[in-house]
Amino acid sequence: MTRTAAEIVAGVDLAGRTAVITGATSGLGLETARVLAAAGAQVVLAGRGADRLAAAADVVHESTPAASVDTVELDLGSLASVRAAAAAISARLDRVDVLINNAGVMFTPFGRTSDGFETQFGVNHLGHFEWTRQLLPLITAGATGARIVNVTSAGHGIADVDLDDPNWEKRPYDKFASYGASKTANILFTVALDTRFRDQGVRSLAVHPGMVTTNLARHMSDTDWETMGAMMKSRPGNDGKPRPPVPLLTPEQGAATQVWAATSPELADVGGVYLADCEISPAVRSYALDAERAAALWELSEKLCA
Ligand SMILES: NC(=O)c1ccc[n+]([C@@H]2O[C@H](COP(=O)([O-])OP(=O)(O)OC[C@H]3O[C@@H](n4cnc5c(N)ncnc54)[C@H](OP(=O)(O)O)[C@@H]3O)[C@@H](O)[C@H]2O)c1
Repeated sequence: MTRTAAEIVAGVDLAGRTAVITGATSGLGLETARVLAAAGAQVVLAGRGADRLAAAADVVHESTPAASVDTVELDLGSLASVRAAAAAISARLDRVDVLINNAGVMFTPFGRTSDGFETQFGVNHLGHFEWTRQLLPLITAGATGARIVNVTSAGHGIADVDLDDPNWEKRPYDKFASYGASKTANILFTVALDTRFRDQGVRSLAVHPGMVTTNLARHMSDTDWETMGAMMKSRPGNDGKPRPPVPLLTPEQGAATQVWAATSPELADVGGVYLADCEISPAVRSYALDAERAAALWELSEKLCA
């Protein structure tokens, strides 16, 4: 029986801890915020649309009336919005103990963010790169046991990041490979963050939540479902073994691994790793954990976001 996020934090007291969660208006992000708040954490919900943020805060309050909930408008497809949101949080908080970079888009038609980045790479990776960089002073200020959790996907196995063409300017666009590359970038970013900040007391972890019934598939057509099904059947797992059938999880179950990553004492001295099913998972492509490529992606991302 798959555990729920609420079961993961049963008996854990997060009073005095502050968690910032992106993509908190829907799916895994909203459930993560609800559960962390129920365990006593102050939560900051980051997402698009004041009305949707207010509705998400209501969901948290319905579950925990005394919850401390704050909201901030954040569009990861705009560096100006990312910087404004980080500045707003920095003006309100002294520190951040847990940052959960959960927001994401999948298989979007070709498009560009306000800054000209390809949508999936821009939103899933570069937006979070700049957001995290802006919040690092608050995260290192929290320091004891501070964690950054980047929500990636087993879909990182579809493709590595092309460091020579991250924004699909030189190749025909492939929405599946683009999602895979953006999710590989989430893991490489985790590796680079952990290398850079573990000595300052900040550990970084990448999480695959499982296959979860959320709004993520909103851009998928019937043909896309068939293509994805065929890809999953024909490809071995990330560990090279045949894929076992993948169970479909509820958001309550799907949020378990990111909540575990954010809170478990078992992970106090762990970072730069890929987690799935509430454990450190070997089902990760070696290219996603490559420290040199992680450093190269960091430098590239700095240049792109300059
Ligand atoms: N569901 C799964 O099976 C699965 C599997 C593997 C990995 N994941 C990962 O899990 C994470 C959460 O996804 P989910 O399944 O919970 O999907 P979801 O229900 O679609 O939630 C995604 C969240 O990201 C937000 N978001 C999208 N674009 C944004 C932008 N430009 N700026 C700010 N926020 C933005 C969405 O807000 P809007 O509604 O405003 O767009 C929404 O709150 C993603 O990173 C995804 O890659 C999910």
